[in-house]
Amino acid sequence: MTMNRRILMCSAAIAGIFLGLGAASAEPPPLEQKERYKVGFAQMESNNPWRIAETKSFHDTAESCNWDLVATDAAGSAAKQVADVDSMIAQGIDVLFLPPREEKPLIPAVMKAKAAGIPTFLVDRSVDPAVAKPGDHFVAFLGSDFIDQGKRVAEWVIENFDGDKGVIVELEGTTGSSPANDRKKGFDDRILQDERFEIVASQSGDFARDQGRQVMETLLQAHPDVNIVYAHNDEMAIGAIQALELAGRKPGEDVLVVSIDGTRDALQAIIDGKMGVTVESSPFFGPLACEVMKRYAAGEEIEHWVQVEDRIFTKDNAADHIDEAY
Ligand code: AHR
Repeated sequence: MTMNRRILMCSAAIAGIFLGLGAASAEPPPLEQKERYKVGFAQMESNNPWRIAETKSFHDTAESCNWDLVATDAAGSAAKQVADVDSMIAQGIDVLFLPPREEKPLIPAVMKAKAAGIPTFLVDRSVDPAVAKPGDHFVAFLGSDFIDQGKRVAEWVIENFDGDKGVIVELEGTTGSSPANDRKKGFDDRILQDERFEIVASQSGDFARDQGRQVMETLLQAHPDVNIVYAHNDEMAIGAIQALELAGRKPGEDVLVVSIDGTRDALQAIIDGKMGVTVESSPFFGPLACEVMKRYAAGEEIEHWVQVEDRIFTKDNAADHIDEAY
């Protein structure tokens, strides 16, 4: 811990005692203002274009924001992600940006960073808010409204599906992750308000293309009458399209495929008529992280949820955006 941080932590503790708060302050650690910061970014995995784009966004921002970036890749393991944060704490980072792979297993990492006097910002995914809270255990969550993303996909399906009976297979993201929980809730709650639709199967494909393909292959055998596939991300949607085509089905004609993210492959699938819609979930968090961190260091009160606005891509605009996609 640097001398300045020790002084800041000490002042915060003394202020807490005077306010009758005891030793553990119910506030995130402060961040001193300085020229350069040692910044930790603990990525969960690099198995899809979204993750790669997010990591690149942090690397790209490092120079312009005067960061010495310590970046790790937990290779799909929540336990390794916790260990990566431990190692960053030991290396003396000033601030931590963490996309927690799952909602509960990453809570110890958040708690340990706070105990070490390191302010943490959760990016893109969150942790269980009943246990770890913004404005206390971490500074803020930077990210999309995942419930709203699922709801917007459902609303698009309700408006655009022209059959009498929608038989839906849902490909869920990583079990226990905030986007899987929330995208399911947003979609299911909205679509089931319309009695034309039934969700006949809902299973995890772990946000991965090949797993999406495999799960779709299995579910197609059990539910050959499926005519809508809702995937929690584009990679699984592309995997599902592969499975459908292998089974002789025609995505875009006899099966409507819808999902979330806005990757280049998904926009191309929309242009090719194989996918109906993808609601954006931006991975470009680097510049936002820089801005929010600077505001925090300047002593500004940070909103507990710095919300990212998402666009929607359909055949009407996919071609206009494919060049900026990842
Ligand atoms: O947390 C955001 C999700 O995680 C993205 O939709 C997905 O592609 C990624 O792995």
